[in-house]
Amino acid sequence: MNPFIYKEHALHCENVALAEIAARVGTPCYVYSASTIVENYHAYDEAFGDIPHMVCYAMKANSNLAVLRLLAKAGAGFDIVSGGELFRVLKAGGDPSKIVFSGVGKTAPEIDEALAAGIFSFNCESEPELALIDALAHRRGVKARIAVRVNPDVDADTHHYISTGSLEHKFGIALAEAEKVYERARQHANLVLEGVSCHIGSKLMDSAPLLEAADLVLALIERLRAKGFDIQHVDLGGGLGVAYEPEEVTPAIRDYVRQLHAKVQGRSLRVMVEPGRSIVAASGVLLAKTLYRKKTGGKEFVIVDAAMNDLIRPALYSAYHEILPVRARGAATLRADVVGPVCETGDFIARDRDLPELLPGDVLAVCTAGAYGFVQSSTYNARRRAAEVLVEGSEWRVVRTRETYDDLIRGEEAL
Ligand code: LLP
Repeated sequence: MNPFIYKEHALHCENVALAEIAARVGTPCYVYSASTIVENYHAYDEAFGDIPHMVCYAMKANSNLAVLRLLAKAGAGFDIVSGGELFRVLKAGGDPSKIVFSGVGKTAPEIDEALAAGIFSFNCESEPELALIDALAHRRGVKARIAVRVNPDVDADTHHYISTGSLEHKFGIALAEAEKVYERARQHANLVLEGVSCHIGSKLMDSAPLLEAADLVLALIERLRAKGFDIQHVDLGGGLGVAYEPEEVTPAIRDYVRQLHAKVQGRSLRVMVEPGRSIVAASGVLLAKTLYRKKTGGKEFVIVDAAMNDLIRPALYSAYHEILPVRARGAATLRADVVGPVCETGDFIARDRDLPELLPGDVLAVCTAGAYGFVQSSTYNARRRAAEVLVEGSEWRVVRTRETYDDLIRGEEAL
């Protein structure tokens, strides 16, 4: 359910008017709906029904401690890709036995921290990584559960920066080489080769490539079992998209999971998924205030106080984010670029967008910003990172305060 709706011309998140949050916390500010996040998690969890499963939220999408705590309390596992993510999720009360560690460049200290925490499994992406995990597990006197990440060479039909499942990408081990890699990995006495994983890309609006990859991975599992490998789990990654543009339709989580369920049923496998965007994207908006209107040549600009350092998706992926005025202003009468204060032409939130009449001081909500928004923000142009707010029904709390100028220089020394 979309938690952002107008009530008496005022845009609300659940039961809280966004204008109230903007007035009290200031802008730019991220606002997240707790119920949407939990609902999306439950959609995954419930649709798997009776088959053993684990929904490992890909916390790279939004790693605010309050968001992690909500999901941990709901029973989620977590997909991490760094020691920093491990630190965050443990702080938030995540259960280490439900953590999978993905990523192509895990360092020795990161692997060791994960072994110390007792995570569920490592999704391994290369043979040298297998050897390193084996050595570190030996030193600790533990066994490490492993799923080799295979690259099924499926075209994910998404932006080329976030497609990962073709052989030209740095990710995983080619499917054709996977069996040999498992054979060679038998020499590592401290590894338990009990899983296979894959992740083919992000923002997939159609589940067909995800299901095609699942078929290829399940066929590999049968071949590995025939060779005597005791494969217990399959991790099918994340990737399900959400609608950003008005004409797009969000693929239903439950439909996708039911299709996975049908494929995995009866195979004695625990199935895992690593969704990020589909859990948090629609839960969040970025609030920004209109500073100025300006015309140069024939072009109209709305200059706002949020910029590419706050939300880089438009600049980086030409991403579209719907923009809604927090106070309803009627039909669109204006076509403009919505831009921020950063000194780059690439600093835009929307281009040639039809908008209602906007005046300085008007607050805008940049929609579908709950995933890959705050986490990809920076302090470029010495701009302080935005505040984050979590709404639960009629209650709201600041879950990350706006950075201060002192935060900006922490650790620096003017010699
Ligand atoms: N698992 C692995 C191994 C991943 O690399 C990713 C995302 C996920 C799971 C979660 O995928 P999701 O369910 O969120 O699609 N910054 C980009 C998206 C990058 C995705 C990177 N990997 C964006 O703003 O669109």
